[in-house]
Amino acid sequence: MKFGLSALVLATLAIPALSSCPYLESLTPERQLSLKQDNPHTSHKVPAELADLHSVKSDIVSLLHSSDPKWPSDYGNYGPFFVRLAWHCSGSYRTSDGRGGCDGGRQRFDPERSWDDNTNLDKARALLAPIKEKYGLTLSWGDLFVLAGTTAIEDMGGPILGFCAGRQDDDDGSASLPLGPTAEQEILAPCETNGECEEPLGTTTVGLIYVNPEGPMGEPDADRSAPQVRDTFGRMAMNDTETVALIGGGHAFGKTHGACPSGPGLPPNQDEENPWSGECGTGVGVDAFTSGFEGPWTTQPTQFDNEYFKSLLGFKWDSWIGPGGHNQWQVRKEQNVTAPTGPAADGDGTQEIMMLTSDVSLTRDPEYLKLVKEFAGDLEEFENQFKHAWYKLTSRDMGPITRCEGDMVPEVQEFQYPLPETPSAKDLVDFEEVRGSVEKLLSENDVGAELSKLAWSCGSTFRETDYLGGCNGARIRFSPGKDWKVNEGADIALSALQSVKDEFREKLSWSDLIVLGGTVALEKAGGKKMKFCGGRTDAADGSGWDYLEPKIDGSIKDDSKVLIDAIAKMGLTAGEYVALLGAQHSLGNLGGEYEGAWTSNTKVLDNEYFLNVMNLDYGLYNEAQYKAEGEDIYALKTDMLVKQIPELAAKAFDFAADESLFLDVLANAWENFFNADRFDIEGREAEYCK
Ligand code: HEM
Ligand SMILES: *[C@@H]1O[C@H](CO)[C@@H](O)[C@H](O)[C@H]1NC(C)=O
Ligand SMILES: *[C@@H]1O[C@H](CO)[C@@H](O)[C@H](O)[C@H]1NC(C)=O
Repeated sequence: MKFGLSALVLATLAIPALSSCPYLESLTPERQLSLKQDNPHTSHKVPAELADLHSVKSDIVSLLHSSDPKWPSDYGNYGPFFVRLAWHCSGSYRTSDGRGGCDGGRQRFDPERSWDDNTNLDKARALLAPIKEKYGLTLSWGDLFVLAGTTAIEDMGGPILGFCAGRQDDDDGSASLPLGPTAEQEILAPCETNGECEEPLGTTTVGLIYVNPEGPMGEPDADRSAPQVRDTFGRMAMNDTETVALIGGGHAFGKTHGACPSGPGLPPNQDEENPWSGECGTGVGVDAFTSGFEGPWTTQPTQFDNEYFKSLLGFKWDSWIGPGGHNQWQVRKEQNVTAPTGPAADGDGTQEIMMLTSDVSLTRDPEYLKLVKEFAGDLEEFENQFKHAWYKLTSRDMGPITRCEGDMVPEVQEFQYPLPETPSAKDLVDFEEVRGSVEKLLSENDVGAELSKLAWSCGSTFRETDYLGGCNGARIRFSPGKDWKVNEGADIALSALQSVKDEFREKLSWSDLIVLGGTVALEKAGGKKMKFCGGRTDAADGSGWDYLEPKIDGSIKDDSKVLIDAIAKMGLTAGEYVALLGAQHSLGNLGGEYEGAWTSNTKVLDNEYFLNVMNLDYGLYNEAQYKAEGEDIYALKTDMLVKQIPELAAKAFDFAADESLFLDVLANAWENFFNADRFDIEGREAEYCK
């Protein structure tokens, strides 16, 4: 998705002006959401060639063991710093809308670069810049951030599953605007009390990755911190085991930074010249200020182990105000107990171990405590869980394994919702024959509208944000997809197609048949001849669709901001969306509990739909739908939104005026959209597409 730059500028300028200017006040907030004008993903991939990852890794290892006086490494090792970089780049991911994650490398841009939780990560990126420059366009920033963290874990003795390369850098931070803090986020997902934010936001606090480390609203209340940790890690589909493994594995490394109470200085969006200058002493090394907590979690902060869990269990922990002025936890000093110490950051002296409220919370919840005990006693199990959870954390926003590149990709994981392998092009059925059978079916049965709707319902689950959904896999045949209200009637289309499926059997997948069925139905109703790419395969169940139920369903609750957001998530432009919707609403009836049709001729694909929508006066017909005054023409709320959202209305108007423009845009949009999830045939389109 892309929000335009103008929205960014407007959003920044409008806030201070709102209170004083009555004209601005009357702007509806929706108008600050924008739709993208052109679609960059006609070809998925820049660059075509990938750097030698082994060579990148060895450059990273050299960097890990160096120290730049401008930002000296703690313990002579940048490893922990890069682990935090990769984690914060990836941990912005959320399942609610698939946004966030390190693909795009948007941590380089606002809003992410100025988040409180990303304090001083500008220095980590600067340290990596020479490596990026060396490999140029063959290495994306996103890949470099994740590979730096992953290599650091391995170099410090931690377990690694592998590395999925192939992240594509964005040109700006616009895809992160909905993460906040921005006007877009205020519109799409307002948070009443910052610190208690709910879904679709991924965190309790805008600007943090998950939760406030100090405890809920800054209170050192470890009991109440645990449910927040569970809630927020759950928003990226991490279960308890993965959550505890990740936190303990991450905090096996490094330290918190808060040498004195003076603070980190201003973030880049407030001080471009010298962001986070550091207000304590020299501002670097032992004087660094990042989070305002101070100290390491373990005695060997550049060594992977399960000491973190052992210490959580082995000591009593008390909260106190640390040197940075924030609540943190120290080992209770009883007569027979002295707190363990690790090396000081500059290697000169020692420093006591510490914990954050969110760390201590892992001992205050019975399920978490069980896992802390398990990991304290079983290093191997901890390693196994950590390496899988780290790979999921850093790769989930990449979507299907077919997007992973390079020679370090591990076997397919459950979170990638694997599909059977794409058959070789020469083993595919002759799709001209299938077309013939579908045409015959359509001439004998009046199911064109149903076939077109089935294809759209199947394909329109695709979201560009994390590449979930799409028709490949034909998961619409299974729960949860088949049970969604929007898919009422899909079974009619599926049983109509059964005869064609029976004719070609295993040579033809359901997903190819569903897409081709819809394509032929549109062509036969008056559309242009469209390119079809075969080779889809069928999933065994509906997994992965849990997050994808459409938020726009034609009901009266449909809302312009939700529609604009849905179009953005699908990766469609305004014109593409309006053409695709127009095709659906040109054929057949409103369906379900609704009455009537959008057009007078429900079997023909022409531009009558747009003429109706733009010219007729519609009013509420009953509680669920609209009707045109004096005409036997009906509509849903979605159609009214097309009239009301100026960018959509502009396209509907053009299509009303120019039927062949509509049919051209539709054909292009249909071809591109139904292949948006076909990473499996990238570079081989010529073999699969006819
Ligand atoms: C509840 C979740 C978490 C919270 C609240 C949290 C909080 C923090 C805080 C406050 C710091 C100190 C930053 C500084 O002052 O330099 C920190 C450092 C760090 N965190 Fe976390 N963290 C969490 C989870 C994780 C996870 C899942 C990982 C990785 C798997 C991780 C890896 C690290 C590392 C490696 C550092 C040390 C960085 C350095 O030494 O420069 N953390 N974390
Ligand atoms: C969480 O998921 C991991 C990976 O699939 C699995 O090994 C673990 O048993 C799960 N834990 C819980 C509590 O469900
Ligand atoms: C310290 O003494 C207390 C009270 O006798 C005992 O419960 C505890 O286990 C001891 N701790 C250690 C680390 O030896």
